[in-house]
Amino acid sequence: MKIAILGSGGREHALAVSISKSAKIEKIYCIPGNAGTSEIARNINLDINDFDNLYNFLNENKIDLVVVGPEQPLVNGVVDYLEKFNIKVFGPNKIASQLEGSKIFTKKLCKEYNIPTAKFGILNNKIDAKKFLDSSKYPSVIKADNLASGKGVYICNNEKESSMAIEEIFNGKFGVAKKILIEEFLEGEEMSYFIISDGKTIKSFDTAQDHKRVLEGDKGKNTGGMGAYSPSRLINNQLEEKILKKIIQPTLLGLSKLGTNYKGFLYAGLMIVNDEPYLIEYNVRMGDPECQTILPKLQTNLTDILLACCDQTLDKIEINWSDKKSICVVMCSKGYPDEFKKNIEIENLDNIKLDINENLFHAGTTKKDNKIYATGGRVLNFVSISDNFTTAKKNIIKNLDKLNWTGGFYRKDIGYKVID
Ligand code: AMP
Ligand code: GLY
Repeated sequence: MKIAILGSGGREHALAVSISKSAKIEKIYCIPGNAGTSEIARNINLDINDFDNLYNFLNENKIDLVVVGPEQPLVNGVVDYLEKFNIKVFGPNKIASQLEGSKIFTKKLCKEYNIPTAKFGILNNKIDAKKFLDSSKYPSVIKADNLASGKGVYICNNEKESSMAIEEIFNGKFGVAKKILIEEFLEGEEMSYFIISDGKTIKSFDTAQDHKRVLEGDKGKNTGGMGAYSPSRLINNQLEEKILKKIIQPTLLGLSKLGTNYKGFLYAGLMIVNDEPYLIEYNVRMGDPECQTILPKLQTNLTDILLACCDQTLDKIEINWSDKKSICVVMCSKGYPDEFKKNIEIENLDNIKLDINENLFHAGTTKKDNKIYATGGRVLNFVSISDNFTTAKKNIIKNLDKLNWTGGFYRKDIGYKVID
């Protein structure tokens, strides 16, 4: 069969590697893909948010299954669009994708179904937002409603910071803003909980903790993610039961009351406060770099799982995981998440010889004349699985040293909470 994967990051390279292990696969297309995916798939340079063109390509090439990596096409309704033409697509539809596309949609769902989350207010204008803050405590969390690639969240310590956040959001920094979300600040430890669903059956898809801040010690600006480890150090059976019962199940019930269901990966960003889970946000896709961290532990064939989700037969599949611990360290272009130089050659990649428990997933890379160039902020993902986190991390550092890329940097302390 022929599969098309939409996206160009480390997550999509990891998906392509796992999908390619299936004997059913005749050809994989990555749209648009990166230098890493070009080794195992054919990259097609198309805009994944231009659905007409996308459909033409998929139809002409008789694609059997489309796997959507990033959130933007999902929120724009790519699944509904392609399913109208009877194309099989793994991912949630437009209504369900509101879970990520609109933070206010999710907060309203939380309120209606008593899903534990930070207390919040939804404000329609600058004056009301500032008044609301006069009667709340600092730190306070101010969020743009719409997709903002993780940048639309402000943690404010005083009135000056909150006024700036309100001005920036209402002045359109993240697109037209008719409303703003203001939340209580939750103090705890964050973890990511993943499920996969076919619309009828849900299965756990492992857990992870990521490092979102750019500097060591979890300081500095927010990024897409500088590294992650899996499983989360917080997860245990009781906590998992609470997450499913108090958060995931009522969410899916809420969607069913809206006349829809959920097919795809669902990523719950949680704050664990005194062993109780609170929903911070939903993402309607796998995390990046959590996907790269988790997939090397998957023992069941991913293609079979994705097909079962599209055919509503997930109940027939047992998803097995290795007990190993996984760590991913992200190599970024110097300057990220601010300005960085593009098209810098990455030398020494040939020095890295991976063993069976190691992966090197590409993110912002392109290949020209047999050379690899960095074109994005997050460039390479070094992943290792081992019996313990400490060895996994050592193996990654060994590979990073061999690369010794002067155009990049990485956080040396990824996983510090789980490493002796
Ligand atoms: P979000 O895009 O909603 O996941 O927010 C980005 C990051 O901001 C989260 O990963 C948290 O670290 C932080 N954050 C968001 N909401 C809260 C909250 N209510 N309390 C504490 N931290 C938060
Ligand atoms: N690593 C965070 C995300 O994928 O949203």
